Amino acid sequence: MALDKKIVESLVARAEKGDRTVLRSNELKALFDEIKTLPPDEKAAYGQEFNAFKAKLESILDNLAASPSNLKPIDVTAPWDVNTVEADRPKTLRAEDGSTHPLMIETQELIDIFARMGFSALESRQIDDDWNMFTSLNFPEGHPARDDYDTFIVEEKDKHGKNLIAPAHTSTMQNRVLKANKHLLARGEPIAYVIPGRVFRNEDVDATHDHTFYQLEGLYVGKDVNTGHLIATLKTFLEEYYGQKLKAKTQPFYFPFTEPSFEFAIEKPKALKKSANNTEEWLEILGCGMIHPNVLKAAGIDPAIYTGFAWGGGIDRLVMLKHGIEDIRHFHSGKLNFLRQFE
Ligand code: DAH
Repeated sequence: MALDKKIVESLVARAEKGDRTVLRSNELKALFDEIKTLPPDEKAAYGQEFNAFKAKLESILDNLAASPSNLKPIDVTAPWDVNTVEADRPKTLRAEDGSTHPLMIETQELIDIFARMGFSALESRQIDDDWNMFTSLNFPEGHPARDDYDTFIVEEKDKHGKNLIAPAHTSTMQNRVLKANKHLLARGEPIAYVIPGRVFRNEDVDATHDHTFYQLEGLYVGKDVNTGHLIATLKTFLEEYYGQKLKAKTQPFYFPFTEPSFEFAIEKPKALKKSANNTEEWLEILGCGMIHPNVLKAAGIDPAIYTGFAWGGGIDRLVMLKHGIEDIRHFHSGKLNFLRQFE
């Protein structure tokens, strides 16, 4: 007696669709059990036929699984070993459950405020060279002020044999933006840019200092630009951002790329006093000044005709003050309880 043809055909059809359950199916078991009903001299031949059929089903299934169009794609970015079976995988969030990071939400807000004031925006780089980090900003070779920017140096070198740098400030973009836009000056238009970006410093990390943070740089160059314009621009921006009138003051400072240079401070607004970390009444919020003639010259702009102001300050600190965030390290912590407050 041979295997039941109908059952054989239906099992082959299922195997060809990749259905591995055929190997444990009742139909296959019924074919096997048939052997018990056979006279002794037929059992051996039936058994061989059954085994050959089962092997055929297995080989159909194995060939199918190995064919490239049926290989399951492997997500090499998944946070588990590719060989982990599904049931053992850690639970991850669905992508739809994510939200924009608070620093990105606030950076967009800053850009929007400046856009309304006529400034364009450009993001800074995360690797830069000696020229943009120092020389074009009036830090001559060997100048001690270079040491104030204790940043991370990359082993790879630029075309002048100088090591590339993880930028310590967004001022690295000044020379590029000035050069790329100086044709506007000839047309009688100002250069007005804000430059948000990520910066890196070799800092001792604590509640108010991180090795990686964000800055917003600003540049304005035109004819007859003076310190009054600088102060009015920054004060207007900060009042817009915090949604209230603010008292502001400048105090003299030193940056190689501005002359004169200032620290810009605001009197801590009442509504923002909940940021318990900072007990002082005046908050230094950014560095600023009138762009040094050498910086304009390095970009091919004549400082006898054009003047301008620039500033740069930490975005993280602005956001901490706005939302009463007590520790800068929350931003990079990946803690969902923190991030979800800003959804
Ligand atoms: N780059 C400075 C820093 O990170 C901040 C700064 C000061 C930027 C004065 C400027 C500026 O553009 O004019 O410490």
